[in-house]
Formats: sequence, C-alpha cells, structure tokens
Amino acid sequence: MTPSGGPQVALAVTGCIAAYKAVEVLRALQRRGAEVRVAMTRSATEFVGPATFRALTGAPVMVGEFGDPLEPIPHIALAEWADLLLVAPCTANVAAKLAHGIADDLLTSAALACTCPVMVAPAMNVHMYEAAATQANLALLRQRGVAVLEADSGYLACGEVGAGRLPEPEAVAEAALALLRERTHARDLAGRSVLVTAGPTVEPIDAVRFVSNRSSGKMGYAVAEAALARGAEVTLVSGPVALEPPRGARVVPVATAVEMLAAAEAAFATADVAVCAAAVADLRPARPVARKLKKGADDAALATLELVENPDVLATLGRAKAPGQVVVGFAAETDDVVANAERKLAAKGADLMVANDVSEGRAFGRDENEATLVSATGAEPLPSMAKRALADAILDRAAAALGASSC
Ligand code: PMT
Repeated sequence: MTPSGGPQVALAVTGCIAAYKAVEVLRALQRRGAEVRVAMTRSATEFVGPATFRALTGAPVMVGEFGDPLEPIPHIALAEWADLLLVAPCTANVAAKLAHGIADDLLTSAALACTCPVMVAPAMNVHMYEAAATQANLALLRQRGVAVLEADSGYLACGEVGAGRLPEPEAVAEAALALLRERTHARDLAGRSVLVTAGPTVEPIDAVRFVSNRSSGKMGYAVAEAALARGAEVTLVSGPVALEPPRGARVVPVATAVEMLAAAEAAFATADVAVCAAAVADLRPARPVARKLKKGADDAALATLELVENPDVLATLGRAKAPGQVVVGFAAETDDVVANAERKLAAKGADLMVANDVSEGRAFGRDENEATLVSATGAEPLPSMAKRALADAILDRAAAALGASSC
C-alpha cells in the first residue's frame, strides 16, 4: 500500500491494438487512489510508447527482457512492490505464457513471481478469443485463482464483430480494485490454524469398484488458498482430486470417510477453524473385498450391495469443539436448501453452514458457487461468485467469530 494507504498496482501492457486503452486504465486507477507502475512487452511498445506511461507514473517503465539498469532485478522488485498485478490488455500469447509458467521477459517473469492477486483482461480477435486453446488457458488461470475479466463484445479493430474487446477503461480499473478489496484482507488469520476438508471420499466395493461422488475439491481448495493468503497455517485433508494443492498447505491425502475422520480429528486438536467442504459418503459397502468381484460367480454380491453408516466428520468435530474454535460445514441440497442447512447446523454442532443448491449440475465441479450462509443469527444469501471469493466470504465470518470468541 502507498504511504496514504492507496493500493500499489502493477499494470502489465501487452502487444495488441487495445494497448492504447491502457493509458486510460492507468488514469482511472490513479483517480481511484492507486499508485501505478507499468511493465510492457516489447510488442506493446509498437502500439503505445513507454514515455507516455513514464510521464503519467513518474516511475521507470519495465520493457522487454531487461529493464532500467538502475534496478538490478526489476521483475522481482515489481512483484514484491505490487498489491495487485493487472494485465490489461492481455493478448492470447501472454495468456498462454501465464497459464504455463513461461517467463521469457520482465513482464511474464514478474507475473510468475507475484504472490499478490492477479487479474487479466483478455483482448484479441473474436476467433482467437473463442479458440479452444485460449479458452483452456483462461480456464487454467481461473483454476489457479487468477481473475479473468470477460472480454466485451462488439466492433473489433480487425473489422469483425464479436467477443474480444477490452472492456471500457473505467470498468477495468473498477474490477481490478474490487478484486483487490475482495482478496486483500489484512492477513487477519495470521497465527491461526485452519483445517479444511475437501473433495470426495472413495468407499471401496472391491479391488476396482468404489462408491464416490462428484466433488472436484475446488471449493475446499479455494478455502485453503484463501486461508493461506490471509496468513493462516492450513491443513488440507483431501479426498482424491485432480487439483494442485495451494502452495504452503500441509496436505493429508485420504480416500475413505474413516480415513478422513482420523486425519481431521488429528488436525482439529490444534485448529482454530475447521471448514468441512468435503463431500463425505454417508454410507460405505459393508464388506469390501480385496479381489475383483466377477460377473457370474459374484452376481449376488454385485446385485445387492449392503451398505453401512460412515462416521460423520463434521458432527464429530462439532461435538468436540472447544470454546474459541469455529466449525463451518456445508450443506449440499436439492430441495429446501436453507431449511435443511438450518437442521444440519443444529444437528452437527456447527457455527456456520454454507448452504448450496447442488441440483441440475450446480456447485459440484464448477468454478463458481451460489450459497446462503446459515448461522444461529439467520440466513444470509450471497450472489453467485467465484469459489475463491466465496471462500473469502466464509473466512470473513469465521474470522469474525474468532474475534468475538477471543474478546
Ligand atoms: O468440491 P467441489 O466440486 O468444488 O463441490 C463443492 C461441494 C458441492 C462439494 C461443496 O460446496 C459442498 O457442498 N460440500 C459438502 C458436501 C456434502 O457432503 O454435503 P452434505 O449436506 O451431505 O453434508 C453436510 C456436511 O457434513 C458437510 O460439511 C460434509 O462435509 C459433512 N459430512 C457429511 C457426511 C459425513 N459422513 N461426514 C461429514 O463430515
């Protein structure tokens, strides 16, 4: 933050015709109290000169592979200085580099070194924007918590009409600072320990078959990432998922509900907050077998799967909760979402339930989620948002509850 408390924004400008709009984005950021420093790809300088940005920021502009000789390692200095990195406009090429960790110039090296929130504002021809490779790269960036500002549609510089326009500079600046507000918490969980359960459990039937569910782990991993960003020590007890765990989390991989319970109980002993986002199977096969059940010889065993009840991880933690500990559960419902969440809140001894409608393909596997936060003081509906933003909203309430209990 600047001495006056304003945000420090690194504006990365890449080489497309929309680069000229970056001047207006910079002015809009400054009008909102931000201090801005600029990095440009060499191709961006073909569209707008570095002198313009230097005049408007009063600071050296990083260009190409080697920046200002007065700054020995400019990309690291910029990454450490920035409270937010805004890549606007972001070409398809730079989006691909960011998605795959390519760092072949100062701009992409600074982006890779940034630990602050990052937002990219793609701008390109409509066919480039809609290309599978571009969309896959943008999806990969979102999965890593990068905010991707949807391109506007309309008349494009290439004469075509469609998606790919950089949004108006005022809108870009506002979205960037809104992200910073949303993501930047004064490390309010520093010194705290947060336990997160995530992903599905897998309950074996035989050597190759199992009972599981559609949880991808994205919600729990977003909570773990948000808690880390806010300074917490995080233990992530995770069922099998296809996600990279957030850097810095202590990850405990589990498969069954029984294993998840053991890992969660062990971590909860020293946790301030437990957030149980995992989709834990209520039931498991009564008699799993080590071999593969064969059609024909084992038809009876395959046709009638006897199930027995699993332990309830959340309820176990809710019952064991000590004064000062905060327990958050999720309610995955298709009907009477809030009423069912209220019932589970009481039944499981949680302080907060995140009620989400999982009907018609919602929530499971998605990058966004729409939830109602249910507690003893009532139900608070939230709009659909990125799971990372919902994670921060959940942790806001948990942090407040911690603060209340430590008074
Ligand atoms: O993983 P994603 O693809 O991102 O999807 C996110 C999600 C939909 C899985 C997540 O938002 C969510 O709703 N998680 C809870 C899923 C679930 O098991 O809900 P439930 O209503 O069946 O269980 C209620 C609560 O009790 C949950 O906190 C659950 O973790 C817990 N529980 C349930 C059964 C059990 N045996 N042990 C438990 O701890």
